[in-house]
Amino acid sequence: MTSPVRFALTTPLYYVNDVPHIGSAYTTMVADAIARFHRLKGDDVLFITGTDEHGQKIQRTAQEKGVVPQVHCDEIIGSFKDLWQHYNIQYDRFSRTTAPNHAKIVAEFFQRVWDNGDIYLAQQQGWYCVACEEFKEEKDLIEDHHCAIHTNKQAEWRDEENYFFRLSKYQAQLEALYQENPDFIQPASRRNEVINFVKQGLQDFSISRVNLDWGFPVPTDENHTIYVWFDALLGYVTALLEDGEEVSLENALKKWWPINLHLIGKDILRFHAVYWPAMLMSANLPLPDKVFGHGFLTKNGLKMGKSLGNTIDPIALVNQYGADALRYYFLKEVELGKDGDFNETRFVNVVNADLANDLGNLLNRTLGMLKKYCKSEIPALDLATISADHPLKALGETLGDRTCAAYDNLNFTAACQQVLALIQASNKYIDDRAPWALFKAGEQAQVEEILLTILESVRLAAYLLSPVIPNLSNQIYRQLGFPGDFNRPEDLVNLAPFASHSRWGLPWSERTLTKAQPIFARLEVPEASA
Ligand code: MSP
Repeated sequence: MTSPVRFALTTPLYYVNDVPHIGSAYTTMVADAIARFHRLKGDDVLFITGTDEHGQKIQRTAQEKGVVPQVHCDEIIGSFKDLWQHYNIQYDRFSRTTAPNHAKIVAEFFQRVWDNGDIYLAQQQGWYCVACEEFKEEKDLIEDHHCAIHTNKQAEWRDEENYFFRLSKYQAQLEALYQENPDFIQPASRRNEVINFVKQGLQDFSISRVNLDWGFPVPTDENHTIYVWFDALLGYVTALLEDGEEVSLENALKKWWPINLHLIGKDILRFHAVYWPAMLMSANLPLPDKVFGHGFLTKNGLKMGKSLGNTIDPIALVNQYGADALRYYFLKEVELGKDGDFNETRFVNVVNADLANDLGNLLNRTLGMLKKYCKSEIPALDLATISADHPLKALGETLGDRTCAAYDNLNFTAACQQVLALIQASNKYIDDRAPWALFKAGEQAQVEEILLTILESVRLAAYLLSPVIPNLSNQIYRQLGFPGDFNRPEDLVNLAPFASHSRWGLPWSERTLTKAQPIFARLEVPEASA
């Protein structure tokens, strides 16, 4: 037997200056759906998320609260883990940059870069945005030296001695990387953005800070603290260590490196697509396969922010609507890579139309007819004998391949739309064929064929949408009498193997239906936004 494909992916390691917001939930939902798709296929998956806990921003937040930074971090990470549970996120590793293992990995990596002659001491002068944890060029600042991203915050003038990383040395190597690996940065618009940035000429960047205690000391000079981004990116590597394993770069890298996919928001593209590969080149390590920069969410068309008073609380939202509805909306309606909007009325309308009406009612209606016309017994019919021009068979037979290709391309919108097209075709098929009239006319065989081909289409839809709406898929599989739990992919591989379950036309002879129940209750449009 061939060994399973390895697939390792990461979300950003989120800052713990505050409780998580909908933006972090969005990235993590997408990453979870990708991880679930790979697990469904039987791949060996490692899904890493976590938190970025050092640096001035966190130190100041803790000071304002009157607690030491570690206490603050320990408190906040609980809210991240809790949120991931609510959204049914199945991460494998939670990487904290304050984890004891991490210090050693950072020190070892720093030493490699140092030994390669890529670190030197020099004077750093410039405007520093603490919220971005980044020095800004004048052109990146707006009026009164406010940061263009954190418009309510003024960047701070710094004039200090820092250690620098020789990014400029990697200019040609980076350009070659982007040319030779067109998929390294996706989508194409972000790739162009990075190529244009690099073309302007790369400047070395400082990787240490003075007058900051909250972080790791520079191994060669205790007066300096390692820059939070240098430390945080390596959190992806520390996460690869197995429990109890001796902490070394070599051990961390031996099974899962290189990471297949770093999923990030467009705000932190430069760090992942320029600085990170250059750091890895300097340490003489292989590079990740892909960096995907997704877009930003707005609310009712407006940028979200605390100062604007229009943030979305991801916990309140999931408590009100449940994980599957939100996952479906964000994955289908926000085209991955583009900016997307959350509007509560639109959200309710989309999930009601697709999940309650098209999918839920179809299942319910079909099971109702099966009860009435076939005493709830599964028709003894071999789907392989159905003619190839049967509309649902014709669509269904290619659906698995088409949907998988869409998932592989991280095109969740297309994946959901393709599956929905089969569901809509099934609804139309019932209306066109009117099994109630055929039943009256005594055409039992035709009724049975219609109902079974629809149930098989619903089953296939549930299977293919399981990375997005695992709980709903589970309910459908149970009602149809198929084994397997989409929240337990390790079981699924045996109970519902991908090769057969991702295709239209499974044998149904051994199935026993369980009690039909509505799978998705219609959501109400909230009054305030109705
Ligand atoms: N700590 C760094 C990442 C270090 S990775 C080694 C960081 N953290 S963050 O908490 O600010 O998270 C940034 C990420 O949150 C973005 O890249 C994006 O994934 C997500 N989002 C934050 N706001 C967002 C929106 N409004 N919309 C969508 N996602 C956004 O940067």
